[in-house]
Amino acid sequence: MDEKLNQLEKEINEALNSARTAEGLEELRIKYIGRKGALTEILKNIKNVPSQDRPRVGERVNLLKRALEEKIKEKMQAAGISGSETKDHVDFSLPGSKYEIGSRHPLTQIIDEICDIFLGFGFRIAEGPEIETEYYNFTALNIPDEHPSREDFHTFFLDVPPEKHEKHGKEYKVLLRSQTSTGQIRVMEKEKPPLQVIIPGKVYRPDATDASHSFMFHQVEGLMVDKDIKFSDLKGVLDLFCKSMFGKSVKTRFRPHYFPFTEPSAEVDVSCIICGGSGCSVCGKKGWLEILGAGMVNPKVFEAVEYQPEDWTGFAFGMGVERIAMLKWGINDIRIFYENDLRFLKQF
Ligand code: PHE
Repeated sequence: MDEKLNQLEKEINEALNSARTAEGLEELRIKYIGRKGALTEILKNIKNVPSQDRPRVGERVNLLKRALEEKIKEKMQAAGISGSETKDHVDFSLPGSKYEIGSRHPLTQIIDEICDIFLGFGFRIAEGPEIETEYYNFTALNIPDEHPSREDFHTFFLDVPPEKHEKHGKEYKVLLRSQTSTGQIRVMEKEKPPLQVIIPGKVYRPDATDASHSFMFHQVEGLMVDKDIKFSDLKGVLDLFCKSMFGKSVKTRFRPHYFPFTEPSAEVDVSCIICGGSGCSVCGKKGWLEILGAGMVNPKVFEAVEYQPEDWTGFAFGMGVERIAMLKWGINDIRIFYENDLRFLKQF
């Protein structure tokens, strides 16, 4: 027996010296002190050992066992493997895996900020579908059939059968909306005036992607319809919006423009939020930044939604969210909003 134990001890020490991995150590444990391990077997069969040798053999085997357990533990620790990684131990005191707390996307922050300002003016939020028909994107908005924006290279047409309009039964091509103005029609078809809504959402245009163009971007549309709404109401609301968004000191400027769905129409500029109006590289030395399109709702649009143009007046406006975000934070490439780069997103 002593001979056998000497042999085992030698073997164990050699095996311990050559075991390098957690698996190797585990194998070793099973081989010698597992349920059917060599040392365990000796203890199980201790009754076969002559009685005068039993205490001595028992003690030696137990010592060997404990020494082996100790050595395995030491080696595991030295290799940076904690006991909890072996199958039958879970160390509840270890810290859990950490969940990173996310944050709102910068564009969502701007949309929320714009919406909050208009909610404060008594507007409410409405939403419309991104997959639309020509009717909502063009026809009802008084955009004529021959208008260039209806061509393939300005609009994403979808390769699906045309859709019938619920009311007049005419068929219209299906497309990805290129402006949130579609939402004006959607809201007015469903609801009677007076109303005050803002409609945030994604729009799509087949522009080649570069630092200032993306095939998808975000707009916030606004629409107010009531009795006796005047252009001065539009000016007041948008001026107050710009001051709330960019700071009390900004000035606004309304330049005459053309949109088929508003008449008269204007493009609205704010005094440059970078240089304050003196001229810099951001405003192209002009001192002004264009930030939205607006105007009085064209009576043709009221006709399309069966509002009496004699009874109702209103204004509408639309702004680009990315443009505002880029101006506000001095971002010079639109593509960075869509790349999911955490180094960028974590800054907001
Ligand atoms: N839909 C216009 C655009 O995308 C913006 C606009 C909205 C202009 C409402 C006037 C009124 O350019």
